[in-house]
Amino acid sequence: MAFTIEMLYSLVILLFCSLGNSLSSNYYGKTCPEVESIVAKVVKDATSKDKTVPAALLRMHFHDCFIRGCDGSVLLESKGGNKAEKDGPPNLSLHAFYVIQNAKKTVEAVCPGVVSCADILAFAARDSVVLSGGPTWYVPKGRKDGRTSKASETTQLPAPTFNISQLQKSFSLRGLSMEDLVALSGGHTVGFSH
Ligand code: HEM
Repeated sequence: MAFTIEMLYSLVILLFCSLGNSLSSNYYGKTCPEVESIVAKVVKDATSKDKTVPAALLRMHFHDCFIRGCDGSVLLESKGGNKAEKDGPPNLSLHAFYVIQNAKKTVEAVCPGVVSCADILAFAARDSVVLSGGPTWYVPKGRKDGRTSKASETTQLPAPTFNISQLQKSFSLRGLSMEDLVALSGGHTVGFSH
């Protein structure tokens, strides 16, 4: 299966549907116009050193969006008594977090305190698909970073043992159709599985 226009469409729907706040095209137009090119360069440089980076970032974005919307909550560390999403069982095989950290650091040096980590991850997932030979798409901007991240909520991610009814239910709870499910499953064009 290859990346298709349907998959691209579904990713955009996923970004819109899983968020409560409204997004816009020129959110960083005045405050950080270079943000997308900065992130694209960081992802490209990381990929040139490690070919597993694009798949990692695409899956990371999906796992972020499915829990509490695309709010960067998958990036937060466990702290005190709170075990974060990152340390939930389905996320233990996520990797390449350092790429998002590098992108955030590089963006902060140019436009401090402006761009959310959630937006950076959304850009990076798109750039990853492009670098893998897939299509590009427009990423709406203005996601807010969440402060809540609970490992216990990662049970809401679809399990590899799910049958089609369970997958359909998991996606429909997030406003995604069967067509979206099939198209987004094309994300497995890249990457590995145990
Ligand atoms: C439909 C429900 C889904 C299930 C049950 C599922 C399950 C899985 C599993 C079990 C793996 C292997 C993890 C491992 O062995 O460590 C995996 C990998 C992956 N998934 Fe999914 N997935 C789903 C949807 C998606 C979606 C919507 C995307 C993105 C559009 C996606 C992108 C990926 C990628 C890129 C990898 C490879 C990650 C890597 O190589 O680092 N998956 N998925």
